Amino acid sequence: MANKLVIGNWKMNGSRQSNTEFLSKFLAPLDQLENVDVAVCPPAIYLEQLAGLVVQSPIHLGAQNLSESEQGAFTGEISGSMLRDFGCHYVLVGHSERRSLNGETNALVAAKFKAALNAGLTPVLCVGETLDQRHDGETLNVVNDQLQAVLDAVGVQELGKGVIAYEPVWAIGTGETATPQQAQEVHQHIRRYIAEISPEVARTTRILYGGSVKGDNAAELFSQPDIDGGLVGGASLDAHSFLSICRAGQSRQL
Ligand code: 13P
Repeated sequence: MANKLVIGNWKMNGSRQSNTEFLSKFLAPLDQLENVDVAVCPPAIYLEQLAGLVVQSPIHLGAQNLSESEQGAFTGEISGSMLRDFGCHYVLVGHSERRSLNGETNALVAAKFKAALNAGLTPVLCVGETLDQRHDGETLNVVNDQLQAVLDAVGVQELGKGVIAYEPVWAIGTGETATPQQAQEVHQHIRRYIAEISPEVARTTRILYGGSVKGDNAAELFSQPDIDGGLVGGASLDAHSFLSICRAGQSRQL
C-alpha cells in the first residue's frame, strides 16, 4: 500500500534565506511523521540549494516545469536530465498556470510528460477545469481530454509511472476549496477512466487534490477514498501550515 503523497509547489516564491529558514523549522518535526511521502518544488534556481539542505531527510525534490526537448538551442529552457542532475525526483507538468499563462496545450503537456519519464523523473500531471467549464457541465470532459492526450502519447503503463493531480482552476489560490465530495467525484471519475484501460494502473496510481488545501481542510479531503494526497501552493510556503497538512496525510494509508 502506498503512502499518501503531499507536494508543496512553491511557485515563484522564496529566497536563499527564506528557504533556509523554512527547512530549519520543517525538518525536525517532519522526522516525527510516518507513512507520508513529502516533496517540495522550489523555483528551479533554488534546486541546488535545496538539494544540499534536504540531504539525509525524507523530503524529495521536484521541479515545476521542464522542456519537452532533451538538449539544444532552446534559450531559457531546462531539460529533464538537468533536473535529474540536481537531484529532482518529481516534476510538475501541465500546471494550470502554465496552461493559461504560457499557452501550454494538452499535446505539449503530453510531450513534457514523456520527456520527464525519459529522463527518469516522476511526472505529476495536473488536470482540472475552469469555473466556466464547471458551470457549463464540462468538468469531466475537460479532465478526460487532458488525460487522454497523455494516454495517446505514452500509453496507460507509462501514465501509471506518474502521479495525477486534480486541481480545479477555480480553487487555486482563491481560498475556495472544492468540497471533499466535489473533489472525490472527479477523483473517482479519473480512476474509473484509467480502469477502463487498466484496472491495475488505476488502483496503483496516486491521484492528488490541489486547490486551497490548508491545515484545517486537509484531513477531510485526504479521507476521501480516491484522494491520495495533496498538491499544495500557498500553504506550503509556511513550515507550520505545510507540516499540519503533511500530518493529515499520515492518518490513513491507501
Ligand atoms: P493553492 O494551494 O495556493 O490554492 O495552489 C494550489 C496549486 O496550484 C498547487 O499547484
